[in-house]
Amino acid sequence: MTDKTQNQMWGGRFAAGPDAIMEAINASIGFDQRMAAQDIAGSRAHAAMLGATGIISDSDAAAIQKGLLTVLSEIEAGDFPFSTALEDIHMNVESRLKEIIGEPAGRLHTGRSRNDQVATDFKLWVRDQLDAADGAIVALMKALLGQAEAGADWVMPGFTHLQVAQPVTWGHHMMAYVEMLGRDLGRMRDARARMNTCPLGTAALAGTSFPIDRDMTASALGFDAPAANSLDAVSDRDFALEFLGASSICAMHLSRLAEELVIWSSAQFRFVTLSDRFSTGSSIMPQKKNPDAAELIRAKVGRIMGANVGLMMVMKGLPLTYSKDMQEDKEQVFDAADNLMLALAAMEGMVRDMTANRDHLAAAAGSGFSTATDLADWLVRVLGLPFRDAHHITGALVAMAEGKGCDLPDLTVEDMQSVHAQISAEVFDVLGVQNSVNSRISYGGTAPDQVRLQIARWEEVLG
Ligand code: ARG
Repeated sequence: MTDKTQNQMWGGRFAAGPDAIMEAINASIGFDQRMAAQDIAGSRAHAAMLGATGIISDSDAAAIQKGLLTVLSEIEAGDFPFSTALEDIHMNVESRLKEIIGEPAGRLHTGRSRNDQVATDFKLWVRDQLDAADGAIVALMKALLGQAEAGADWVMPGFTHLQVAQPVTWGHHMMAYVEMLGRDLGRMRDARARMNTCPLGTAALAGTSFPIDRDMTASALGFDAPAANSLDAVSDRDFALEFLGASSICAMHLSRLAEELVIWSSAQFRFVTLSDRFSTGSSIMPQKKNPDAAELIRAKVGRIMGANVGLMMVMKGLPLTYSKDMQEDKEQVFDAADNLMLALAAMEGMVRDMTANRDHLAAAAGSGFSTATDLADWLVRVLGLPFRDAHHITGALVAMAEGKGCDLPDLTVEDMQSVHAQISAEVFDVLGVQNSVNSRISYGGTAPDQVRLQIARWEEVLG
């Protein structure tokens, strides 16, 4: 009865098979085979529920379960004959199940549709990525904590406008990234909590007349509850957008750290030495050691944010409920997830392996008049001057030092007194960078004690 060229799954009303171009544009099996494990998990939950509710017989349910495990093992072994004519992972799996178990396979699709099926598969896949990102972010945070602990009191220049601003501690700078990644972690966890409702059983769009048990499938698949509106459930891709949004911000943070590592590892800065394991050489310049991993991480935010914008453009303006446009959701998410995980892992390795050059950091910390604010604060605190006057006097002293080609601590007390007669030799105490950072004891400040407090707090949070 069925023409060979007709689609086995929906060919009933068709007199001819699809044009080759139609098949090419329609098929998603080239990429959605990455969701095979999720697809089979969803089908197994659905089959178990169909059996438990008596919608199909126990023996059919058991045959389906067994057959699906065989399909899964074939896919895992890498010898599954994926077919473009069968469009997608859902129909490839079902068709193979039919070859293996025969007639009961045709009962699996009772009370569901590919629309709720794909939404469920994709949610499960994205949920796994949220969990993987969670672990990878924590690992990177621990690497940064290790660096912060080792150099909680090492001084380095702090910058604004990439101009030397005030001395800070190495530990404080590392901990700034721990804070950023902590927010990334929070975003991944928020997204996971919000997305964890199960679309399975919402069927094509309207629900089903079969007496299915959606609580049973939801809990079998680790969801908190079944999704409450069938129209929304089959057309919602917020979970993927939230993952991409959280990933974009995380990738932006990685990019900023990567940029700092590129600058810091240059011959001009020498703040850090990257390990050989995370550097590359030049084929022509023998002296070169390039921070390629950092540069690639710096670039990843482009494609990850691109995926975020891309999927947003796919979804905007789609009427409810499912439209085939939504098949274009997956590749961008797959690519973004792969690249985020790679970037996190590479950054973790780089941070763990790098050596902070304490002497270079310290030498740079004292340059560029970095303690000018401490001097101005001293004039306010000790001489009782208004801050604006103190700022002006300090500016004049900086100009004097600049004229002499030295730093502030190299001026003599007589030099200083020529600008303001009451300045005494005690001022030199605050011109030292170590004193400068030690004095910044306000909560969240750069003083080593404050930094150690934050390290201890994060160590407790991360366990
Ligand atoms: N391959 C499709 C996708 O990824 C599965 C859903 C197909 N549904 C449909 N009504 N044609 O979106």
